[in-house]
Amino acid sequence: MISYKTLGLVNTREMFAKAVKGGYAIPAFNFNNMEQLQAIVMAAVETKSPVILQVSKGARDYANQTLLRYMAEGAVGYAKELGCEKPEIVLHLDHGDSFETCKSCIDMGFSSVMIDGSHLPYEENVALTKKVVEYAHQFDVTVEGELGVLAGVEDEVSAAESHYTKPEEVVDFVTKTGCDSLAISIGTSHGAYKFTPEQCTVDPETGRLLPPPLAFDVLAAIEEQLPGFPIVLHGSSSVPQDDVDTINKYGGKLVAAVGIPEEQLRKASKSAVCKINIDSDSRLAMTAAVRKTLAEKPGEFDPRKYLGPARESMKQLYMHKIVNVLGSNDKL
Ligand code: G3H
Ligand code: 13P
Ligand code: ZN
Repeated sequence: MISYKTLGLVNTREMFAKAVKGGYAIPAFNFNNMEQLQAIVMAAVETKSPVILQVSKGARDYANQTLLRYMAEGAVGYAKELGCEKPEIVLHLDHGDSFETCKSCIDMGFSSVMIDGSHLPYEENVALTKKVVEYAHQFDVTVEGELGVLAGVEDEVSAAESHYTKPEEVVDFVTKTGCDSLAISIGTSHGAYKFTPEQCTVDPETGRLLPPPLAFDVLAAIEEQLPGFPIVLHGSSSVPQDDVDTINKYGGKLVAAVGIPEEQLRKASKSAVCKINIDSDSRLAMTAAVRKTLAEKPGEFDPRKYLGPARESMKQLYMHKIVNVLGSNDKL
């Protein structure tokens, strides 16, 4: 058993309490490799922001959970080396799919886990989440539960359509499970194709697709039921058109990719939404930079020469999210 506390990591409890009170959201960025992690840490230090490092099942399969854990430990030292005296870094399991996965992460030094029972019948979700909470809280590890199903793919969990969280269920769920935060469904979804063209309208000036608004009425009803309780939004990438255009210009083929407009995320950040998950935007920034460099310098074969610009591009993206969208800058 390795306690995250000995690794210099923190859990989400105090971080979320401050964010809800202060009307901002903590960035939860997924990472799978060194360049992403470096970019996240550099951005968090430069903007003086707390940050959540997220590890998905896909990341664990790709990069190995032990390596990722040591990388997160290294992130604390790296942040200090960059000049941050007291970094606030959470190592979080994204979309934990079973008690065993959550336990394994808790035992190896994660400071926060998500147990995603959103696809289960309600009572089974309650029982599974409660079991994870009971284990996690013995070690002061915080737990995110989920109610409501996002459209698209939640890791390996597939849902054909979005089922918004039912505000009438949230008090019962939080009380019975003891979870520390709750992921909800109000119209976001994972990936770079969050809406079909049929769900969108076309901007007459730019010809670009404009997605339908998030269900802020559902969010307000949830907040009314759970005043001040930390709420989480998954699937919150905005799919920047510039990156999509760059990818397509240099040989990619991303057709009709649409994300959540940043002004809606800005609005959500000011509410009880205190954790916003972003993965796809980082993938787009990285891919755009790699494609551009390789297209412009066809003779280049040193990975540092194309991963370096990709890292810088991701850093700029993370800083932009922190400062201009979530508002978590200058909080350390
Ligand atoms: O919620 C999903 C995240 O974007 C992680 O995706 O399983 O492909 O790493 P992944
Ligand atoms: P995006 O695909 O919108 O980046 O969402 C990421 C996410 O929710 C990770 O859990
Ligand atoms: Zn997610």
